[in-house]
Amino acid sequence: MVFVLLCGSLLISSCVKQSRGFALPEGDIEQGKATYKRLVCYECHSIPNIEWKGGNDNLKIHLGGEVTAPKTYGELVTSVINPSHKIASFYNQKTSTEGGLSKMKNYNEIMTVQELIDLVTFLQSEYQVVSPPTSYTPYY
Ligand code: HEC
Repeated sequence: MVFVLLCGSLLISSCVKQSRGFALPEGDIEQGKATYKRLVCYECHSIPNIEWKGGNDNLKIHLGGEVTAPKTYGELVTSVINPSHKIASFYNQKTSTEGGLSKMKNYNEIMTVQELIDLVTFLQSEYQVVSPPTSYTPYY
């Protein structure tokens, strides 16, 4: 009986904890933009209002713009600190090495956590969520 109660309360408390989810403190868009420029992300990425200047691989991957599902900061943080995580699903010889790793640089040793927070806040602000196109005709 005690065991059942103990398990039950453990289960509930773990659920409560989970519902808080992963949350970053609020970041600063302008600081994030400055970090984006300082770390030369524009070498491989284009984003509205920051000119793309191609690097060695001449990669031009667009960031920001219209998306049908919001970019969560979980996704954005993953893209920045673990760029190879998603690569398998869209394996592409131009954007990945022969070993299947992302060509994206790794900033984990040089970026502060605050810079990451601001960067993600800036990136997130560059996406606009739009409804997906649909052939559904509503009745009026
Ligand atoms: C040397 C090239 C290169 C540089 C420099 C680079 N990236 Fe990337 N980035 C990539 C490539 C290639 C991808 C796409 C595939 C992948 O995830 O590796 C990518 C993907 C991303 C994505 C995910 C895009 C999406 O639509 O899912 C984000 C966000 C991103 N980069 C942010 C950054 C930021 C912020 C910086 C600067 C701190 C940066 N990148 C610097 C090559 C680069």
